[in-house]
Amino acid sequence: MGVADPLIELAGLEFSYPDGRKALRGINLTVGAGERVAVLGANGAGKSTMLLQLIGILKPQSGTIRICGIELSGKTVRQVRKKLGLVFQVPDDQLFCTSLYDDIAFGPRNMGVPEVEVKARVAKALSAVGLEGFGERMAYHLSPGEKKRASIATVLSMDAECLALDEPTSMLDPRARREMSTLLKSLPQTQLIVTHDLDLARDACTRGVIVDAGQVVADGDVATLLDDEALLVRHGLA
Ligand SMILES: Nc1ncnc2c1ncn2[C@@H]1O[C@H](COP(=O)(O)OP(=O)(O)O)[C@@H](O)[C@H]1O
Ligand SMILES: [Mg+2]
Repeated sequence: MGVADPLIELAGLEFSYPDGRKALRGINLTVGAGERVAVLGANGAGKSTMLLQLIGILKPQSGTIRICGIELSGKTVRQVRKKLGLVFQVPDDQLFCTSLYDDIAFGPRNMGVPEVEVKARVAKALSAVGLEGFGERMAYHLSPGEKKRASIATVLSMDAECLALDEPTSMLDPRARREMSTLLKSLPQTQLIVTHDLDLARDACTRGVIVDAGQVVADGDVATLLDDEALLVRHGLA
């Protein structure tokens, strides 16, 4: 499928874990600028494995990854991490400092951004996720919804063009889920959103892909996919 202005390009990704379990069997997926794509799939389908490859946490055994036109390799991994921010499923993996300010400042500081600009980026990121004034708070004391939004702020401060989010509404109550959907729609970044939350997919995404056993088995208009009961049942989604 032709996509205008492709920012995330995955071609022929294959990956097996050291114990021999084959998690990805040739993933092909291209996401264009401004798209919000829901990635749906049963537990164990390979969704998280795919996301961990986008910024080089796991290396594909074959296939290529291009982010904003840059082919991911050992040489380009730092550049790629400036272009695509990965939000982990568990906020505690992203929030480990004694204040949210330091958590959100961590990435830019690590990239050598001057402290005055770091301050401006932290304020902007907190505001974007609706947590103005939370800089001195510690993640430990936040509600689950606030933690999820704070973990998004830690990647927004990197000024990335693309975001990949692993189950952004898991553990959230219905109101916090709706707030997350509103937040994701308000962000200008191109987004790949792994989710089991079919309401989020329908509300926030325009396109959906279904991953099953390490392959993309469906790709299209999200409402069309979600209305296809037989398709959902076939891939363990209903
Ligand atoms: N660290 C690991 N070691 C071995 N197998 C793993 C590891 N992590 C995930 N897997 C396996 O890889 C497959 C894909 O897992 P994962 O990407 O986590 O799926 P999803 O995020 O879609 O639930 C599953 O069969 C899972 O059991
Ligand atoms: Mg997962």
